Amino acid sequence: MKVLVIGGGAREHALVWKLSSSPQVTEIFTAPGNAGTAMLGTNLDVSATDVEGLFAAAKSNDIDLTIVGPETALDVGVVDRFRAEGLTIAGPTQAAARIETSKAFAKDLMTKYNIATGKAEFFTSYEDAMHYIQRIPMPAVVKADGLTGGKGVTVCQTRDEALTALRDAMEDQVFGASGGQVLVEECLFGQEISVFTFTDGVHLSPLVAACDYKRIGDGDKGPNTGGMGSYSPPRVWDDALAEQVMTEIMAPTVKALAVEGAPFQGVLYGGIILTEEGPKVIEFNARWGDPETQTVMPRLESDLVDAYLATINGTVDQATIEWTEEACVGVVLVSGGYPGDYSTGLPINGLDDIEEEITVFHAGTSPQEGTPMTSGGRVLTVTAKGASLEQARERAYNNVSRITFEGAQYRSDIAK
Ligand code: AMP
Ligand code: GLY
Repeated sequence: MKVLVIGGGAREHALVWKLSSSPQVTEIFTAPGNAGTAMLGTNLDVSATDVEGLFAAAKSNDIDLTIVGPETALDVGVVDRFRAEGLTIAGPTQAAARIETSKAFAKDLMTKYNIATGKAEFFTSYEDAMHYIQRIPMPAVVKADGLTGGKGVTVCQTRDEALTALRDAMEDQVFGASGGQVLVEECLFGQEISVFTFTDGVHLSPLVAACDYKRIGDGDKGPNTGGMGSYSPPRVWDDALAEQVMTEIMAPTVKALAVEGAPFQGVLYGGIILTEEGPKVIEFNARWGDPETQTVMPRLESDLVDAYLATINGTVDQATIEWTEEACVGVVLVSGGYPGDYSTGLPINGLDDIEEEITVFHAGTSPQEGTPMTSGGRVLTVTAKGASLEQARERAYNNVSRITFEGAQYRSDIAK
């Protein structure tokens, strides 16, 4: 099979890396890809949101299976377009992806079908939202309705912070149209986990879980980022919790989407907080997480192609989708200054000096003859497996420090 992966982050490198071990895969294309995916296949100079460009690339390269990485591609309807033309593509339609692309849609669905989530009110009027914030307890969470590249959620400790977040979104439109409507949500307390399943719209594969780190600094200090590290499985994750999250959250959500006429096929991601009252949803995503994918793919023992084909063919219940008991830890190396301004074009050294059991996934790198160069904020994810989280963690950190570029920074407390 010739496979096309849409996207260009470390998540997509991890998918391409896993696909490259499938006996069914003969050739891999990535659009647009990065220096990591270029080592395993062909990068195509097409953006992840250029639906017509992607369609033309799939046609001209005789692609048998296309896999969608980022939500931005789902949001512009790449799955609908490919399907309408009879091409095989894994991922939810635009309508099903609303579980991620519209927080109001997701919240309404959860309320209607009794799926545990924080209480929230939805506003299209700035004045109404302001008055609401004046009278609710703090902390509270202000969420822009649409896609914001992970920046549209503000956890506000004080009323002033909440009012500022609201003004940024609704009045100053810092998220563009995505902030025209906002949710104001109660703040939930407890450990946060990310839970993933392959689903064909009816059946769900056994869940796999991971944790991610959003803040730039150790101890969760400083501004939010695209993700500074991940580990899988979470220490709290066991069969009882998996069963509870499956029966109370993931399975009812898949069923609800089908009942609403938007069956979800692909990878469903539940962002969950383990509160004292039980697991509650803070968000759904319609695709794999980044950086979670980098620690989850190394734990997939079965063939990734089979899992994706099962989501398309309605056979997830018959597919072999197996996860190892081993743990995996991933540490993200970022450019100096990130998530603020940073330089690019810096040579990355030491990639040949890492131990064999380590896998490095690329994100902000550009393919060069010889030395790869930095080209983005999040540059690499260094991952290691181990019999325990402690062992995986030690292995990962033993190798992170061998990779150097000017200004490189990383957190030292991933999976601690
Ligand atoms: P998101 O950009 O949707 O991934 O959300 C960013 C982060 O905000 C999440 O990872 C949570 O840590 C936090 N968050 C979102 N909703 C809530 C909530 N209701 N209560 C507490 N924290 C939240
Ligand atoms: N890990 C958060 C996300 O992928 O949205």
